[in-house]
Amino acid sequence: MVLRLPAVIRPLRPLGVARSSAQQVRWLATPVHPVTQDSSRGPTAMVFLNMGGPSTVDEVGDFLSRLFADGDLIPLGRLQGYLGPLISNRRTPKIQKQYAAIGGGSPIRKWSEYQCAEMCKILDKISPETAPHKPYVAFRYANPLTEETYRQMLADGFGNGRGGRAVAFTQYPQYSCSTTGSSLNELWKWRQRLEGRAGPLEDGADGTIKWSVIDRWPTHPGLVEAFAQNIEAKLAEYPEERRDKVVLLFSAHSLPMTVVNRGDPYPAEVAATVHAVMKRLNFVNPWRLCWQSQVGPQPWLGPQTSDTVENYIAKGLKDLLLIPIAFTSDHIETLYELDEEVIGGSGHADTVKRVESLNGSPVFINALVELAKSHLASGITCSTQMGLRCPGCKSDRCAESKKFFAGQQL
Ligand code: FES
Repeated sequence: MVLRLPAVIRPLRPLGVARSSAQQVRWLATPVHPVTQDSSRGPTAMVFLNMGGPSTVDEVGDFLSRLFADGDLIPLGRLQGYLGPLISNRRTPKIQKQYAAIGGGSPIRKWSEYQCAEMCKILDKISPETAPHKPYVAFRYANPLTEETYRQMLADGFGNGRGGRAVAFTQYPQYSCSTTGSSLNELWKWRQRLEGRAGPLEDGADGTIKWSVIDRWPTHPGLVEAFAQNIEAKLAEYPEERRDKVVLLFSAHSLPMTVVNRGDPYPAEVAATVHAVMKRLNFVNPWRLCWQSQVGPQPWLGPQTSDTVENYIAKGLKDLLLIPIAFTSDHIETLYELDEEVIGGSGHADTVKRVESLNGSPVFINALVELAKSHLASGITCSTQMGLRCPGCKSDRCAESKKFFAGQQL
C-alpha cells in the first residue's frame, strides 16, 4: 500500500516557536513528495482516541494503575511512581463495587467501537476518494490500549515501511492536555517505538503512517444539535407549566487547579460547548456549568456537581436536569456518579434527572461523519490551536509530540 497524495502541504509549525537556523536548514531540506493523484487514496485508518474504561470488574486494578501513573492526567510530580500505585491500589476495591453496580463493566468500548464503525460505513459512501475507512479504537488506560491498536494497524498493512494514512480522532470534544493531549503523547510514543525506523518507499517517502489529528470540536453544529435534542427529550418529561424553569446543570469532568492554572484550554472549550447548546435552545432555561469526579485532596476546578445539586435543592430548586457535556458515551461518571450518587442521593430522584448520553444517537454519528469528511478533505494535519503549548507547560513529551503531529506532511 503506497500512499500518493496530491499536494505538498506545508507542515504547521507550533505557534510562538521560532525556528533556529539549523531548523530552517532542515525545513528547507525536507524532501518534496511527487505531486500525483490516484483515484482512491485509501485505505484510511480512523482511530478514535479516548480514556477507555474497564470492560470487566477484574480489569479495574490495571485501569486505575495506568490512570494514576499518567502525569498528564493526575500530576503528582516526582512522587508519581510512589503515590500512583498507592492511590490506585487503595481505590481499586471501591471502584470495583461501582463497576459491579453498573452491570460489571464500562460500556465505553462498546459505544466507541459502534460509533467508529458506523461513521466509517457512511464515510465509505460519501468519501470514496479516501475509502475504505477502517475503524480503530485506541484507549489510554483500558483495552484496546494504544500500543495494541498501533500493532493491529501495522498487522493490517499500514505503515512500517508501507505508508498509509491515519486520522487520530479525539472523542473528547473539548481539548485538555490531560485527556486528548495525553492520548496524543501516548500515540506519539508508540509511533516512535514501533515505526521509528520504518525505511523508505520506492518514491522516497519514509514508509511510516502519515498521521493527522482531529483534536477538538467543542462547537460543531452536529454535536450541539445532538446535545440539544437529548435535552429537549428529557425536558419534555417535566410538566409543561414547570418545564421552562428547570435548571440545566451542565456537568463536565473537573481538572486539578494546577492543570487549569498551567493554561489548559479545556475550561474555556467546555464553556463554549455549553454556550452553543444554550444558544440552540434559545436560552429559555436558567443554567450553570459544574464539574465532577474530583479525586484526592488537592484543589480542583469547581463548583462540584454534587455540591451544586445539594445547594440548589437547599434553595428550593428541585427541578434540576443534569447534562454530561464532555463525554460522548456512557461511562462510570454518568451511570454511577451522576445516576447513583448525585441523583440517587439527592432525595428527589423524581425531579432531578439526567439527559441521555450521546451513545448511538444518529444525529451524533452524523456529526462524526461531517467532522471526519471535512478533515479528510482539508489536507490539514491538526488545528492551529494544537500547536500552541500551555503557557505553563514544561513537558518535553508535549513539545515533541506536538512537533511530530503538526509537522506531518500529508
Ligand atoms: Fe499543555 Fe503541555 S501541558 S501543552
